[in-house]
Formats: sequence, C-alpha cells, structure tokens
Amino acid sequence: MPRVLVTGAGRGIGLEFARQYRADGCDVLATCRNADAAAALEALGCETAILDVTDAAAIDKFAAGIPVQSLDVAILNAGTAGQRTPVLEPTSPEDFDAVMRTNVFGPMRLIAVLADRVARGGRIAVLSSRMGSIGITNNGRSVLYRASKAGLNAVARAASFELAPRGVIVVVLSPGWVKTDMGGPGADLDAATSVAGMRAAIAHTSAADSGRFVDHAEASIVW
Ligand SMILES: NC(=O)c1ccc[n+]([C@@H]2O[C@H](COP(=O)([O-])OP(=O)(O)OC[C@H]3O[C@@H](n4cnc5c(N)ncnc54)[C@H](OP(=O)(O)O)[C@@H]3O)[C@@H](O)[C@H]2O)c1
Repeated sequence: MPRVLVTGAGRGIGLEFARQYRADGCDVLATCRNADAAAALEALGCETAILDVTDAAAIDKFAAGIPVQSLDVAILNAGTAGQRTPVLEPTSPEDFDAVMRTNVFGPMRLIAVLADRVARGGRIAVLSSRMGSIGITNNGRSVLYRASKAGLNAVARAASFELAPRGVIVVVLSPGWVKTDMGGPGADLDAATSVAGMRAAIAHTSAADSGRFVDHAEASIVW
C-alpha cells in the first residue's frame, strides 16, 4: 500500500488530499495542529501527528519517527496567507516572520529531514501558488505571500537537484484558486477537483522533469 504524508491536513486542500488518498486505499500519515482535526482524520482511517511547521524541534522529532525510505509521497501543504498587504503598506515584522516561517522555513526543513524517509522513486510535492511566479506577477497585492511562495519555489527547485541522486522526485504545485478558508467561497475550484488534478500531476512527474512547476491541470507555470 503506498504511504502518503500530508502536512496541514486538518482542513482545506490538505484534508482533501488525505480523503482522496485514503479513498484510493493508501496509508495516510496526516499532520494537523489540534485534537479535533486529528479525530476527524482518524475517522477517515489516517494515522495522525500534531505538527506546527514553524517549530524546528517538532519537525525533527516528527521525522525521526518515520522509518527510512517508508514514504511514497510527501505533500508539504501547510501554508498561510498572512495579511494581504500591498507593497507600499509596511509589513509588520511579526507577519513577516509568521508567513516566512510557515511557507518557507517549514517546507525547507521538512525537505531536509524527510529526504531519507522518502523511498527511491518517491515524490515530494510542495503546495506553492501562481502568486509565487515572478514571471506572471502583474500587481503589488499580497506581496508577503508572493515573496514566501517565490522563496518556496527556489527551495523546492534546488532540492530537486540534490534529491535526484537519491531517486526522489520533486514537484511544485499551484492548486488554482480553490474554495477553502484561504481561497474563500468565491474561488473558481472546489477542493476535490483541484486535488484530483494535483494527484495526477504528482503521479505523472518523472525523474526527467523533477523540479517542474505546474498547476492542477498540469499546465507549466513560469518561475
Ligand atoms: N486555496 C487557494 O486558492 C490556494 C491557492 C494557491 C495556493 N494555496 C496553497 O495551498 C495550501 C493549502 O491551502 P488551503 O487553501 O487549504 O488553506 P487553508 O484553508 O487556510 O488551510 C491551511 C492549512 O495549513 C495549516 N497550517 C497553517 N499554518 C500552519 C503551521 N504553522 N503549521 C502547520 N500547519 C499549518 C492549517 O492548519 P490549522 O487548521 O491548524 O490552522 C490548515 O490545515 C497552502 O500552502 C496555500 O498557500 C491555496
């Protein structure tokens, strides 16, 4: 049975990844931040762990409990939008730290400590965003979120080269604009459609195109 890790699985896109992989018969290790979310994930048949991805010691302890080369897919989904401030409105140091630690530091450290936990031929998928693409940026809104996802993209792309000799494949995903707490009710896509598309993209990414940046329909996105 394939074994899949999903971070930030208590709600939104992460919860939908957990639900779909369970429905396909996978073993799912789902992380969340509170007991209620853990109970709901356990009701789906997931193994759970409490993990805040801004906490380095917690990340290290979590990874140490995962057997070497036991994961087929690791989905680094946990993320936050922070205050959606435009460039010319000063960003607070607190918001900067919270968004950068969650969206960049968390996945960066997780990739480092999970590298030998993922099987040869396995995949690490990171939840980025079109807003992390510098090439298609055409306004100054939500600049901190944009910068965090651009940073995440740099980390994941760099990781694809370091992980290649281990046979671990990396894919950088944009889910589209999805109806979740983050995306809001007016978004284009329901979580089920977005996640089904991203699961296909994860499965289709090969060693030859490791490090690619694609959306839920597998269309390439410029960096
Ligand atoms: N929805 C969209 O339209 C959209 C578009 C582009 C990219 N994305 C990306 O897709 C991913 C999932 O987004 P979503 O729409 O599902 O967002 P969401 O509804 O706001 O859910 C965010 C998830 O991340 C978890 N999380 C936040 N901070 C965390 C931390 N420090 N440690 C551990 N978990 C943390 C949350 O856990 P709690 O429940 O404990 O807060 C929650 O499970 C994010 O990386 C997001 O940036 C979403």
